[in-house]
Amino acid sequence: MKHFINLKDITTQDLRKILKDAKKRKNARKKLNNLEVDKGAPLRGKLLIQMFEKSSLRTRLSFYLAIKQLGGSTLTLRPDELHLTKGGESIEDTAKILSNFGNAFMLRTDDDRKLEEFKKYLSIPIINGLSPSSHPTQILSDVFTVEEIKKKPISKLNISWIGDSNNVLGSLIVASIKFSFNLKIGCPRNYQPNKGIMNYIKKNRNKISIYNNPKKAVEEADVIFSDKVISMNDKVNKNKKLKNFKNFKINKKLMNFAKKNCIFLHCLPRGEEVDEQVFSSKNSKVWQQAKNRVHVQKSILLYCIGILR
Ligand code: CP
Ligand code: NVA
Repeated sequence: MKHFINLKDITTQDLRKILKDAKKRKNARKKLNNLEVDKGAPLRGKLLIQMFEKSSLRTRLSFYLAIKQLGGSTLTLRPDELHLTKGGESIEDTAKILSNFGNAFMLRTDDDRKLEEFKKYLSIPIINGLSPSSHPTQILSDVFTVEEIKKKPISKLNISWIGDSNNVLGSLIVASIKFSFNLKIGCPRNYQPNKGIMNYIKKNRNKISIYNNPKKAVEEADVIFSDKVISMNDKVNKNKKLKNFKNFKINKKLMNFAKKNCIFLHCLPRGEEVDEQVFSSKNSKVWQQAKNRVHVQKSILLYCIGILR
């Protein structure tokens, strides 16, 4: 059994194994409908329990299809209906019950410590479905999408991020270290990654650079990633923050500084960080990106449950 809380904790070899399995599974079910089960139904009889403390559309749907396609089932808990939040039941007792009834637990949370606390008491794997510091299932899936579209290992590509230093960037930074790719980050000076992340970057390697000029950050880019300037539960002065990011809007003019065939990716939902022309252009691969989450999350589930071939 393995947990999937942060890409940092997983070896590159295991991450590669997950991506390889996802590719094989995706290819093998090209003619199947969404709810048809993969050959061998590897998770037959298994239950994934999901809980979202914050909104979700894609993560919820993609984990639903992922476990179904592996032959298992899922149950989504509403935190406001649990004793954990309403009646003061402990994480320890909740975790023991989850372990007795389910085979994996996917949690989207507002507090990174909760993932660690659950992990302490669960005897089933926990998967981080987004936390304040990271969004690992999203980024592993995005590595898959980039390699699928570019038909090259990501280490041979220039990746740019234009946007806030948020959870999605946190995982992209770790991925850049795990998969050894160039990452240029473009953001206003006051919104750079925090000290802890900067130290992590320095300690590991130095293929990551930060620019306060968006044009410089996208020069020679094969892929431009972005995300909303204001994340869920971002406790900031929203108008002020949006104003500070005004020059970082992704439009045709900015895309012209990147390579001609540069693609645009965005985890969604979107905000004002990208204009409609770029978002709906042929270089934008956001719908393919969202769909791929099903395939990669299937292999993450198999990895966690310990049956990844
Ligand atoms: N990208 C993503 O995680 O989307 P949701 O918040 O809709 O799950
Ligand atoms: N950074 C965004 C990602 C949403 C999928 C947020 O945390 O709201």
